[in-house]
Amino acid sequence: MDIIKGIKGVKDILPEETPRWRFIEDAARRWALCYGYQEIRIPIFELTALFARSIGAATDIVEKEMYTFPDRDGTSLTLRPEGTAGTVRAFIEHNRAADPLPQKYFYLGPMFRHERPQAGRLRQFHQFGVESFGTLSPHADVEVIALLWRLLSDLALPDLTLEINSLGNSDDRTAYKAVLLAFLKQQESHLCANCRRRMYTNPLRVLDCKVPDCRVATESAPRLTDHLSLEARTHFDQVLTGLMALGVPYRLNPRLVRGLDYYCLTSFEITSTHLGAQNAVGAGGRYDGLVETLGGPSVPAIGFAVGLERVSLMLPETSSSSSYECLYYVAAFGENGAKLGLILLDELRRIGISSQCDYRATTLKAHLRQADRSKCRYAILLGDDEAGRGSVILRNLQSKAQEELPLTGLASLLKTRSFPS
Ligand code: HAM
Repeated sequence: MDIIKGIKGVKDILPEETPRWRFIEDAARRWALCYGYQEIRIPIFELTALFARSIGAATDIVEKEMYTFPDRDGTSLTLRPEGTAGTVRAFIEHNRAADPLPQKYFYLGPMFRHERPQAGRLRQFHQFGVESFGTLSPHADVEVIALLWRLLSDLALPDLTLEINSLGNSDDRTAYKAVLLAFLKQQESHLCANCRRRMYTNPLRVLDCKVPDCRVATESAPRLTDHLSLEARTHFDQVLTGLMALGVPYRLNPRLVRGLDYYCLTSFEITSTHLGAQNAVGAGGRYDGLVETLGGPSVPAIGFAVGLERVSLMLPETSSSSSYECLYYVAAFGENGAKLGLILLDELRRIGISSQCDYRATTLKAHLRQADRSKCRYAILLGDDEAGRGSVILRNLQSKAQEELPLTGLASLLKTRSFPS
């Protein structure tokens, strides 16, 4: 019979890998809470219009990467390709702007993009993201970037570079796009087919093209940072000054334009040379107009998201603990021993002592083999002989040292030993 396999680019995270994931997620939660962010859980699918309107109709994500399908009544739905749009929708829908600002949210969860799978690029991937609403001050930008930098540094990810740029205000970009388009038209014959098309729909994206010919052709392209209004320039300078004050190192990258249309002013990306082609670990920026674009009040905002698969790829082996082990293996056998063993397991677990047993084993030898495989630290031997004496044998599975203990009150006794107060 044919085996039904998982979908390309959609991965299982197996028990050997989950401790690594928990380690990363715990660090993300800890850092977010430490900076005053609160967790939000938003749906995995939304109306397609939400993503088209926020991320932008002429972006790669909306044009070709979304998992979109009709609901039974024909309504177009989409699996979320990112978390900002859903968070902003929830912010507006629940009238959160009526509560005191600023408000700071974080989320963890799967996202979906139909991209060509490769190392660090999946079709179902996971993001940790934060969104901070209500602060125009460049200090909010500094705080968000510092949170991202501190988290990734705490995880000891190697060779991180923070790249930063300013996309200016919308008027700055409109003026700049005209200048850029004039330049790109002169270079048109050197550009790839995709850039020849998108220079008319989304010219900024041409600057981000990875095709070598396009990079050469746009080397001397006019820079957006040279076309910033005084207001945008001042904001950017204050962000850079703040980062310097906190000792967060950055590299100016005037070509950094991001693949989502909602950004303005500060945009940033953290890359690592350890990741190959998919070198962005996390990225984000300011999106002061998005709440309004989606029908809410005018509320400035800024955030970022980190790709957890990429963090996992880069996490040093020594960082996360090995897979979870139970403390006790209960080797209960014989008619009475097996019955008492079942009760003992229940007692241990009810007071929070991790324990397990292989019910298929019926002899001491079989149990000891399973106990060694289980990676438990101790075995509790409980056969009919021990049951008759009202005791058990506690065996240290490493040193093989054994001692006899009374069965009555055993769980409580082990609790005091496992968790000395
Ligand atoms: P993004 O740059 O599209 O931004 O994605 C953020 C991060 O998600 C990337 O840097 C990368 O680590 C990871 N990522 C993206 N696509 C994939 C994929 N196919 N496979 C594996 N990892 C991937 C956003 O999503 C914005 N919502 C970030 C943001 C939040 N801006 C403001 N607030």
